[in-house]
Amino acid sequence: MIHLQNLRLSYPGPDGQEAPVLALRDWRAARGEQLALVGGSGSGKTTLLNLISGLLKPNQGVVEVAGTDLATLGEARRDRFRAEHIGYVFQSFHLLDGFSARENVELGAVFAQGKPEPGRAAELLEAVGLGHRMNYPPSKLSVGQQARVSLARALMNKPEVLLADEPTGSLDPENAAQVLALLRDTAEAHNITLICATHDREVADAFPRCDRVEDLA
Ligand SMILES: Nc1ncnc2c1ncn2[C@@H]1O[C@H](COP(=O)(O)OP(=O)(O)OP(=O)(O)O)[C@@H](O)[C@H]1O
Ligand SMILES: [Mg+2]
Repeated sequence: MIHLQNLRLSYPGPDGQEAPVLALRDWRAARGEQLALVGGSGSGKTTLLNLISGLLKPNQGVVEVAGTDLATLGEARRDRFRAEHIGYVFQSFHLLDGFSARENVELGAVFAQGKPEPGRAAELLEAVGLGHRMNYPPSKLSVGQQARVSLARALMNKPEVLLADEPTGSLDPENAAQVLALLRDTAEAHNITLICATHDREVADAFPRCDRVEDLA
């Protein structure tokens, strides 16, 4: 399902010199697999998720997702690919406050081909327990509720891969457990490959597989 090979990514540092950020030899995740990605702050967890989602392009290597090598595609085609195959729950959720929860979820479909099923956003919000908050803007939702809107948006296009970057980072333990269960149950129900970056030991321990970024080089 996902196969990363001989991957290298570097950023230009403040002095203009390329600074290596991530090196990865050979890494796979199977369809429907659920895994946690751990590692120290700055170890490259977010960078790795951004490579798998095609938000970033590696300097070198193969980023094969669902049979397509994203490293060979330009930005527009990677954006299209992401819209059609990948759901991303960002750490800071990236919800738009000028829009209601339902509109935020509907916006998840904007870049995909074809028309979204009418009513799908509402169904997803019901499924994450927010049927009664569909018309609220994100600023009038609790942080845990925002996390759930973000998950609903990520599911809008029926992704095969769900990436979550510290999805429980800003939540209290009770909400964190709820959001984690929702992520895992949804992924399991739809055979979605779930990759969850986290620094929370308890979250990582909930997963059947846990990879440390520093060990992948
Ligand atoms: N736009 C950028 N330009 C230059 N360097 C960057 C850029 N974004 C990230 N980096 C560097 O890449 C490294 C990895 O960052 P990344 O955000 O992937 O770490 P992380 O493991 O997600 O950390 P955290 O646990 O703090 O979220 C860091 O050392 C950071 O300085
Ligand atoms: Mg990060």
